[in-house]
Amino acid sequence: MTGEEIRNCFPYFKSNKKSIYFDSAATTHKPQSVIDTIISFYQKYNSNIHRSMNKAATIATQKFENSRSLVKELLNAEHSSEIVFTNGATDSINLVAQSFLKKQIKKNDIILISETEHHSNLVPWQQLALETGAKIDFLPIRADLLVDTDKIKAKINDKVKLISTHHISSISGGKQNIEKIIKIARSLNIPILIDGAQAIAHTPIDVKELDCDFYCFSGHKLFGPTGTGILYSKSRHLDGFIPYKFGGGMVDNVGLHENSFSELPHRLEAGTPNISGVIGLGEAVNFVKSVGFSVIQEIETSLAEKFNHELSKVDDCVLVGSGPRSAPIFTFNIEGIHHYDLASLLSEYNICTRSGHLCSQPMIEMCGLSGAVRASLSIYNNEEEIENFMVILKKAISFLKR
Ligand code: ALA
Repeated sequence: MTGEEIRNCFPYFKSNKKSIYFDSAATTHKPQSVIDTIISFYQKYNSNIHRSMNKAATIATQKFENSRSLVKELLNAEHSSEIVFTNGATDSINLVAQSFLKKQIKKNDIILISETEHHSNLVPWQQLALETGAKIDFLPIRADLLVDTDKIKAKINDKVKLISTHHISSISGGKQNIEKIIKIARSLNIPILIDGAQAIAHTPIDVKELDCDFYCFSGHKLFGPTGTGILYSKSRHLDGFIPYKFGGGMVDNVGLHENSFSELPHRLEAGTPNISGVIGLGEAVNFVKSVGFSVIQEIETSLAEKFNHELSKVDDCVLVGSGPRSAPIFTFNIEGIHHYDLASLLSEYNICTRSGHLCSQPMIEMCGLSGAVRASLSIYNNEEEIENFMVILKKAISFLKR
């Protein structure tokens, strides 16, 4: 598919001809096929899953489980049962915290993350530490804001019970050397979770080759519906997960005083799930497959090069993170202008960016900032939008500097 053909798959751009949408790290738009799939569910076979035996419910159950197979293939997991549906990456990380780590972590044990995590990969660990008396420690960070893999071992001792880090940064677009981080964790027998929230739409993932224990992402950052996500977990860990949400759908036998849980992964998916969303997520995976990661990376690399080149010509622009990018994400400030003022003025010109601490307050503060503007692009953007963005950005800067 060409860039234009891809853009034409997204009805948002037909309804918003003047909009320049550079906020895809916050959420991506949805192709027509995903929207149609959700509509079709409600119009044609709306029903609950894994319960009723009527025809519509059977179709819904099959399509829901087909999405699990599609995600399994996308990640190259060993078994579909290693894919747990959640409502997003945040929910997936909470699941690991509450159902996996909580039962084994003790006072003064350590959860090793980095200061450059977004809040989803920080707050669940902070809460677990509060509940258990465990501590959080931080992986060493290099000047390019990525984990310094040469110094990780110095941080590790027998108190470290889990390492959790992101794959691609939501601030700098930089990619962690997760291969090396996983290798170190594996050699020391420490479980490792990779937060793929910002990676999943930009790079192929092979959890078998990576050999990570856990991998998670949100559907809405992969052209899928909001309120969907997954946790991939190696089977041997999932077997020991203790559910922390209880109710229908996750039980086998229920008496008045006791119950038994259903098989995996259903015992970790209590209640009626986001059925239309999960089926829509499956369609988003089909969409990504039909485009292919080689095309995605070719388009995004070219967009990132152009954006970087044009932004380097903007006076007083300070980029956060100067290393190579694996996603077209640019976080910056213009000296002398408040990020909020700039993003608000850009919005007046129909430009969608995000500003503030970007759900990564500790990282933004570590960089000595109170906030920044972020422009995050995706496969449906084009060079013309970048050119128009730069014209308006310069206009906004000269207005705000008057
Ligand atoms: N983590 C998302 C972002 O970076 C919400 O905008």
